[in-house]
Amino acid sequence: MNAILQIDHLNKTFDTPQGRMQALRSIKLNVRRGEFVTIIGPSGCGKSTLLKIIAGLDTDHDGQVLLDNEQVTKPSIDKGFVFQEHRLFPWLTVERNIAVDWPLRDPDVRRKVDEMIAIVRLKGFEKAYPRELSGGMSQRVAIARALLRKPKVMLLDEPFGALDAFTRSHMQEVLLDIWQQNQTTMILVTHDIDEAVFLANRVVIMDARPGTIRNMVPVDLPYPRKKSSSSFQELRRIVLSEFERVEELELMDSSGI
Ligand SMILES: Nc1ncnc2c1ncn2[C@@H]1O[C@H](COP(=O)(O)OP(=O)(O)OP(=O)(O)O)[C@@H](O)[C@H]1O
Ligand SMILES: [Mg+2]
Repeated sequence: MNAILQIDHLNKTFDTPQGRMQALRSIKLNVRRGEFVTIIGPSGCGKSTLLKIIAGLDTDHDGQVLLDNEQVTKPSIDKGFVFQEHRLFPWLTVERNIAVDWPLRDPDVRRKVDEMIAIVRLKGFEKAYPRELSGGMSQRVAIARALLRKPKVMLLDEPFGALDAFTRSHMQEVLLDIWQQNQTTMILVTHDIDEAVFLANRVVIMDARPGTIRNMVPVDLPYPRKKSSSSFQELRRIVLSEFERVEELELMDSSGI
């Protein structure tokens, strides 16, 4: 496999007032160049922690995290990140939040930024400030900013969580379009099983306390996918039953069975 990302023996602990907490244990995950991987798992199982480690935002861990055969030691432009909670600069307009350090007076930058604004459906809001936007609009700005830079790997932490069903569905299509056009490797965390199956070549299912990878389900369905098709529903059932097994174990755990 031509792996762009190789994670092996990854362990992560946090020191908390209650003592050491193992957030991730023995994570092994290889991602193919150009692959679309989605990650699902119960709240607190370490999904965001894992994504931040891949992004180079957290290097305080054991084990190997290789991007293009090089250990990840810091954030870089080739790793685009969309946070669970959007992080915009409150003092910059929408277009400046997207362009950041790229000069908008450069016609090429202007064109790309305008293109991105159209894709995420924010035409007319170029000059608006984050305080004038809804949560979903802000998240779309964050997505546009990450996509503009055409990173090798896009790391998306529940990027569509705050969006209404229509915008969410549109953004899923947009993401698939961008993925197919640019062959960007995508790793997306979601709570939504439909979304996980709709987007991915492979769904990774995580378990909590400590965070581990429980199973991986390949999704061998051609794109574009139809959520109502029987093959889609069958795969959804497989992922759901895996997910429910994780949740049942969680419940048994917390009730002391
Ligand atoms: N900076 C930190 N200090 C201490 N503990 C942390 C820290 N960040 C995360 N944790 C703990 O690590 C575990 C995993 O957290 P993480 O945010 O990765 O979960 P998650 O799977 O993304 O959850 P959610 O689905 O709710 O976003 C949790 O138990 C959390 O309390
Ligand atoms: Mg999270």
